[in-house]
Amino acid sequence: MKYAIIGTSWITQAFIDSANTLGELTLGAVYSRSLSRAVEFASKNGCDYAYDDLDTIARSGVDAVYIASPNSLHYEQAKLFLSHGKHVICEKPAVVRPEQLLELHDLAHENGLVFMEAIMMLHQPCLKTVKDALSRLGRIDTARFDFSQYSSRYQALMDGELPNIFNPRFAAGCMMDLGVYVVYPALYFFGRPREIVTRARLLSSGADISFTSLFVYDDKHVVLTASKASEDRIGSEILGDKGTMTIRTLFELSGIGIEYLDGSRETIVGDVTRETLMANEARDFVRYVRDPAGCAEELRRAQRLSLDVLETITQMRAQAGIVFPE
Ligand SMILES: NC(=O)c1ccc[n+]([C@@H]2O[C@H](COP(=O)([O-])OP(=O)(O)OC[C@H]3O[C@@H](n4cnc5c(N)ncnc54)[C@H](OP(=O)(O)O)[C@@H]3O)[C@@H](O)[C@H]2O)c1
Repeated sequence: MKYAIIGTSWITQAFIDSANTLGELTLGAVYSRSLSRAVEFASKNGCDYAYDDLDTIARSGVDAVYIASPNSLHYEQAKLFLSHGKHVICEKPAVVRPEQLLELHDLAHENGLVFMEAIMMLHQPCLKTVKDALSRLGRIDTARFDFSQYSSRYQALMDGELPNIFNPRFAAGCMMDLGVYVVYPALYFFGRPREIVTRARLLSSGADISFTSLFVYDDKHVVLTASKASEDRIGSEILGDKGTMTIRTLFELSGIGIEYLDGSRETIVGDVTRETLMANEARDFVRYVRDPAGCAEELRRAQRLSLDVLETITQMRAQAGIVFPE
């Protein structure tokens, strides 16, 4: 299957490197706003086709596209490729507004195409094992999900620049970036909460640098935190009356164990590499494309969860006063 890429940052390189390990995906075209950058990136990756014009790629013979541009551009780019009969794997958050996501899901469905939000944890073989292990914790009363990662662009922000990741024009900020990785597991493990309370620390740009959300369920509270100005050291936890699940790296679903109240311990998941994480994600994308009938239900569930997450984040953003220009 031949795919094009949009965006030439490190995450695109990581996707290409991981996809290469599968032997089923071939890089067929590179897009960059700068033709020289496209040529350089393509040649580094053994690809002969480099463009600075998206329409040309959308009309070309590629089967699919991997989109890793700033968030606010995903919707139009995905729509362009879907309307030219190409499958789409799109970096998170797939789009900004739930209506946009519904439209892309419908467009893909009507044209027999796959539209998939790239969420690595959903494609890890251990996903079901981890969910099943929750029943061994007894009655779960509390969970704390955190993803705090010091941003490589934080110093530039402190120096008075406005990197894309902190620019509301690109629908960016901590909640749209790291927030996706704490909301996904909350909804995957526990479903949608009855009530949400959210506060964020806003930058002068209007984007958030960190946030805290309380998800209220009938039988439990889940606290979600994320920051781009600091690093967490304690990871995430799910607390039951028989034991506590500790999760070192939530977005990877790695370093997971249970400590029971009687002092015994169980290891559920060890370490995983980023290459494996992204290769698993790319493998599922290929599977969805190759076997639409066999994967229809799985894809529908993934798209339903994707929509639930986006609706939830939209509610959290409104509570926190995070506003993006149209
Ligand atoms: N799954 C993950 O672990 C993960 C990790 C990082 C990022 N992401 C997601 O990947 C996407 C890209 O994130 P990023 O941090 O790589 O973003 P970025 O560096 O700001 O931009 C990504 C690419 O988009 C193009 N671009 C940059 N500024 C642009 C502008 N003003 N207008 C149009 N195109 C522009 C650039 O490519 P050209 O200059 O070549 O056009 C750049 O390489 C985001 O949706 C992010 O959430 C996911």
